[in-house]
Amino acid sequence: MRTIPIITARERTESKVICRQHVFSAVLAPMREQLLAGGGIVFTDSNVVRLYQRQISRALEGVPVFVMEAGEENKNETTLFALLRAMAEAGLRRNSTLIALGGGVVGDLGGLAASLYMRGISCIQIPTTLLAQVDSSVGGKTAVDFCGVKNLVGAFKQPAYVYVDRVFLKTLPRRELRCGLGEIIKHGALSRPLFEKLTSAPDLFDLGFLAEIVPENICVKAGIVPKDPLEKGLRRCLNLGHTTGHAIELSSGLSHGECVLWGLLFESGLAARHFEADARFLQDLKTLCFSALESRERPTLDLTQALRDKKNMAAGEVTLTVPVALERYEILRLSYAEYERELREVGKRLC
Ligand SMILES: NC(=O)c1ccc[n+]([C@@H]2O[C@H](COP(=O)([O-])OP(=O)(O)OC[C@H]3O[C@@H](n4cnc5c(N)ncnc54)[C@H](O)[C@@H]3O)[C@@H](O)[C@H]2O)c1
Ligand SMILES: [Zn+2]
Repeated sequence: MRTIPIITARERTESKVICRQHVFSAVLAPMREQLLAGGGIVFTDSNVVRLYQRQISRALEGVPVFVMEAGEENKNETTLFALLRAMAEAGLRRNSTLIALGGGVVGDLGGLAASLYMRGISCIQIPTTLLAQVDSSVGGKTAVDFCGVKNLVGAFKQPAYVYVDRVFLKTLPRRELRCGLGEIIKHGALSRPLFEKLTSAPDLFDLGFLAEIVPENICVKAGIVPKDPLEKGLRRCLNLGHTTGHAIELSSGLSHGECVLWGLLFESGLAARHFEADARFLQDLKTLCFSALESRERPTLDLTQALRDKKNMAAGEVTLTVPVALERYEILRLSYAEYERELREVGKRLC
């Protein structure tokens, strides 16, 4: 068991990520009385409830459970208000707790509902996907997609606790593991010890290996977030691969993690063209990304979407955070025309 404290200067609240096993019997079951007395709700999705119904009922009998239909397409205001309604109907009060049990979609929606209900109630995150364990459940960002724009409406809401249990990895399809690997490799580019583990791993998809490196990934993100809780500067390094990744995501059928992997590949190529980059590191990063992708089929890119990325502040210009060496990144600003031309060039040499 490992506890990682996260303190944010802004909210003066402490959030703890606890990596431990037996979350149903050792964490949730002992909370049942308190949840029944103080009011509490479990928020999850249709896939998670299908897989873990027995454990949920056994640990939390009598506690209301609200189940959303799984999928990013349901991370919207309709589900948000349906959840808020369920919270009101369950009689939740100011001292009640929402337990978000699921992947990043459940975590983002649940966190936002907890931040809105009675101007904020306590939230516990139990991330069940690899991506949610290493990324989305840490850092306090919550949101729903709105008016066709991803994460347009959201809030910063630190969960009181995040419980990370490796048991959930066992039921994840390989594609969901790959999704988490996108963020894990991104973290690796920011942390030497993690990068060394990744480059020497015989099988990136091995569940034992992944469970071992989850806490280290949380530490990478947890080390960055408190220094920049509102995403004004330093936290930008967590955007490695993401600007190009988002453009790919909006124009291909690939998952977020797959797009981040392609984004890292493209943006490494841009780094090599614009900065004095460490060629050996970029080669190792490329090898890692292709091992996680298990495919060299290049996705389509619709660059008009990249310019809509809300992190690109200046109109007509694309701002990217690119990896230049292990634990080092640079900010690269390109006009739209340059970005398009350069990506085409990089793409030719990529596969
Ligand atoms: N808040 C943040 O800082 C942050 C960071 C990164 C991503 N995100 C958000 O996270 C979301 C993506 O998260 P995700 O990849 O976890 O997606 P997701 O929540 O949709 O989960 C992916 C799929 O896995 C299923 N699933 C969940 N747990 C499972 C388990 N243990 N076994 C089998 N199936 C399981 C889900 O039902 C879903 O079908 C996006 O909406 C993204 O915007 C947020
Ligand atoms: Zn991401």
